[in-house]
Amino acid sequence: MIKKLCVIGAGTMGAGIAQVAAESGIDVVLRDVEAAFVERGLGTIRKFIGKKLEKGKISQEAHDQIVGRVKGTTSPEEGFAGVDMVIEAVFESMELKQRIFAEADRLCGPSVILSSNTSTMSISKIASATGRPERVVGTHFFSPVPAMRLVEVIRGEKTDAAVIDATVEFCKAIGKTAILCKDVPGFIVNRFLCLLYNEAANQIHQGLATAQDIDLGLKLGSNHLMGPVEIMDMAGVDVVNNALKAMYEMTGEERYKPSPLFEQMIRENRLGRKTGRGFYAYDK
Ligand SMILES: NC(=O)c1ccc[n+]([C@@H]2O[C@H](COP(=O)([O-])OP(=O)(O)OC[C@H]3O[C@@H](n4cnc5c(N)ncnc54)[C@H](O)[C@@H]3O)[C@@H](O)[C@H]2O)c1
Repeated sequence: MIKKLCVIGAGTMGAGIAQVAAESGIDVVLRDVEAAFVERGLGTIRKFIGKKLEKGKISQEAHDQIVGRVKGTTSPEEGFAGVDMVIEAVFESMELKQRIFAEADRLCGPSVILSSNTSTMSISKIASATGRPERVVGTHFFSPVPAMRLVEVIRGEKTDAAVIDATVEFCKAIGKTAILCKDVPGFIVNRFLCLLYNEAANQIHQGLATAQDIDLGLKLGSNHLMGPVEIMDMAGVDVVNNALKAMYEMTGEERYKPSPLFEQMIRENRLGRKTGRGFYAYDK
């Protein structure tokens, strides 16, 4: 059972993971490279939990306990002290992730589970930087972490079955549902999403359908909560293009080759909501 967790990287994902763990009664140490980044992550958590208190969803006592459960640090030794599990959520760089895993391997007790929130990288390759690849696993959370119910649990080449079980248990304990994935590019969900976004862009590019009709089609015909084109504008056209490029490079499969429409839109600064124009136009 995971009682104390270290989250490395206090950004979008790290702060969300720290929050849901603390809300479930787990002690958390949130670590980043600079005190200001740690404080920003802690501030995000305090804001979300504060809103729950304001709305009467939790008591003052529960609020104080949750906030009190998350401590911040920039020190690796302090971050790893007494933890049962480490979740790494730093930038998407293999070199950086391997460095952090090697350090965690050096400083954590032998039973500690080391996990990565990577969206694209091989868990086996990250694990190869440690002397305990059997205790390394992938936990791919979705954004925003407090709202999204899924975690993809990725089994590396050498991950122990017991580590997978403990990780699935941990996901349950923090109110998430786990699905088991092989260590392949895009795991399960992003392999589908990349295809959906690419198909939508290609249909628009080839004049087969409008953005509006694609979104309506999938919302009304397939009960999607949001249309794929709306989602691309929200995530950023450049971000979707990068995800497709990475999938195409990793798999070599033509179906992931980014639609030419993405490059054209990027040249025109039509990146989605963030630039006021993407597939749709927005009031700034
Ligand atoms: N944002 C998403 O929608 C999303 C979804 C699923 C998975 N992911 C994955 O989660 C990971 C984090 O993504 P994010 O969006 O939270 O990134 P982010 O940029 O918001 O946060 C990353 C944080 O890591 C910190 N960091 C960098 N090097 C560090 C080090 N050596 N030690 C400690 N902290 C360090 C940075 O200062 C930053 O605060 C990436 O691997 C990403 O692919 C992201």
